Parts: sequence; C-alpha cells; structure tokens
Amino acid sequence: MAGKMTNIKTVGVVGAGQMGNGIAHVSALAGYDVLLSDADASRIDAALEIITKNMTRQVHRELISQADMDAALKRIKAAPKLSSFGPCDLVIESIVEQHDAKKAVFAELRAVLKPDAILASNTSSISITRLAATTDRPEKFIGVHFMNPAPVMKLVELIRGLATSQETYDTSLRFVESLGKTIANAEDFPAFIVNRVLVPMINEAIYTLYEGVGSVEAIDKAMRLGANHPMGPLELADFIGLDTCLSIMQVLYEGLADSKYRPCPLLVKYVEAGWLGRKTQRGFYDYRTDPPTPTR
Ligand SMILES: NC(=O)c1ccc[n+]([C@@H]2O[C@H](COP(=O)([O-])OP(=O)(O)OC[C@H]3O[C@@H](n4cnc5c(N)ncnc54)[C@H](O)[C@@H]3O)[C@@H](O)[C@H]2O)c1
Repeated sequence: MAGKMTNIKTVGVVGAGQMGNGIAHVSALAGYDVLLSDADASRIDAALEIITKNMTRQVHRELISQADMDAALKRIKAAPKLSSFGPCDLVIESIVEQHDAKKAVFAELRAVLKPDAILASNTSSISITRLAATTDRPEKFIGVHFMNPAPVMKLVELIRGLATSQETYDTSLRFVESLGKTIANAEDFPAFIVNRVLVPMINEAIYTLYEGVGSVEAIDKAMRLGANHPMGPLELADFIGLDTCLSIMQVLYEGLADSKYRPCPLLVKYVEAGWLGRKTQRGFYDYRTDPPTPTR
C-alpha cells in the first residue's frame, strides 16, 4: 500500500468542504487513517456522502476496485471535535480562507497534537510563513496546496515557510507522492505558482471581454482551439468561482503592489451581482439552460 512509504499513519483533515473532502478521499485510498473535522457537523456528513459518490464513480470507471473503496471508507472517521486529533501524525487544515479562523484552529490544536506532528495548510493565498508564526511549531509547518478536485488533479504545490525544516519538507513530499500525486515546489509568495500564472490569464480574458475584443464564445473558442487549452478561460473562471478569482487577484494586487494585477471591473461587477459561476448557476454562462448560454 502506497501509504506505508511514510511514518505517517493518521491524517487529520480540518474543514470538510470542497477541498477537505477530496483530501480525505485521496488520503484514505492511499491507506491512511483519516479523521475528518468541521465546525459545522452537517458538513462532515455531507462530505462522507460526496466521498462515497466520487469513489463509486472511480469504481465504475475501473480506476479503483470495490474492495479499495470499502477499505478506504472504513478508514475515514468523523471527528466533530478537534480534541480527538491526538493520534494524528499530520494535520491538513482546509477551512475557510480567513487568517483569523485558521489561527484559531491552530491554537485549538496546540493542546492536542503530539510534539512531532506536522501541521499543513491547504491555503491558496495566505502566507505560509505568517500562518506558521501563529503556531507552536513553525519548523513543522508547511503549505500543501492541492488542486480542485483533489481526487482528479495530479499536482500538489509544496510551499516551505521561512522556518520549515528539511525533515518536515521531506516527510511531506513522501506523503504527497504516496497519494500518487506529483509535486511542484513553490516559494512562499502570493498565490504560489499555479494561481499566479492562471488567474491573471483569466483576468486578462475578462478584460478582453470588457473591452469588446471578443464575445464570451469567441474568447473561449480562441483559447481552446488556438492554445489547446482543455477549457476556455471564462468557462474555467465559472468553474473556479468568480469570487475566488477576484480574491486571488486582490491578493496578488496587494501582495505584490503591482498595478498589472488589478482586477478587471467586469469581474468585480459579476461578483457584486452574485453571478459567481457554476455554483450559483450563472457567471459568464447561464447554466440553467443546456447547453449553457453566454451571458454577454
Ligand atoms: N476551492 C478551490 O478551488 C481551492 C483549491 C485549493 C485550495 N483551496 C483552499 O482550501 C481551503 C478550503 O477551501 P474550500 O474550497 O474547500 O472551501 P469550502 O467553503 O468548500 O469549505 C470550507 C469548510 O470549512 C469549514 N469551516 C469554516 N470555519 C471553520 C472552523 N473555524 N473550523 C472548522 N471548520 C471550519 C466550513 O464549515 C466548510 O465546510 C481554503 O483555504 C482555500 O483557499 C481551495
């Protein structure tokens, strides 16, 4: 079993949202025992249902066997209280993207975790060094940034904070590889690598629409067929969530203090309208029709 490659046996996942359920899914399939926590206990139940549904799909596609699925599901335990995280060798925090909320989780874990447990954050944009400094173990703190959806996407960015030890890095690297993922090392600067390159490209596509250079359909078609992207940038923006795209642009703009990262006013307008993409049924496309209709 791949998971046996590291000294890690038990993985705690805090936050059972979109990303947390995917991280629990891949960890359990790799043979780790998983404790899954959330401030809202109903989110844990919902996550367990989603994991079951997603694993069933993998069984149908013959990517995993029914026996793999059954064993993995048995390894995931709901852990509504962080006080049960004592056995964890690694904790991956994946709660809402707010510094103070994450800091509060780390403070609660302080009293519970073994001294040698590694603490990781799945943050997309908050400085790993800054988060590490709020914990009792900056040398055992690291950024482990999964892509969405975690069970499907092959890459994980590993981000060392200023104080992260080599041992923490090495163990985290072996853990990520044991999940069947490939890592890219990123330095601790705003948005790391993938979002630093991807989201300004999406923002530029929105400027292209805003300035009337092309329609929604023309821009997406141009990038699909002209640059061989599997999805056009506006479709992709709807998939990621326009609020998420906007907050990443704000982090780049403020964190790097460079006007080239200014969010497109049209992106701001869509977010203000609550047209956030697929999750609200409307963004650059209206998903209430089949096929979706461009909204501009
Ligand atoms: N969505 C993405 O594409 C993506 C990709 C990579 C990384 N991330 C990062 O992953 C993290 C989670 O994002 P998500 O998309 O899964 O969000 P989400 O909103 O789907 O889930 C967040 C979960 O955290 C829970 N939560 C909130 N406050 C909490 C607290 N104090 N203690 C315990 N649980 C709490 C919420 O109840 C919710 O279930 C964020 O840091 C985000 O930046 C997101």
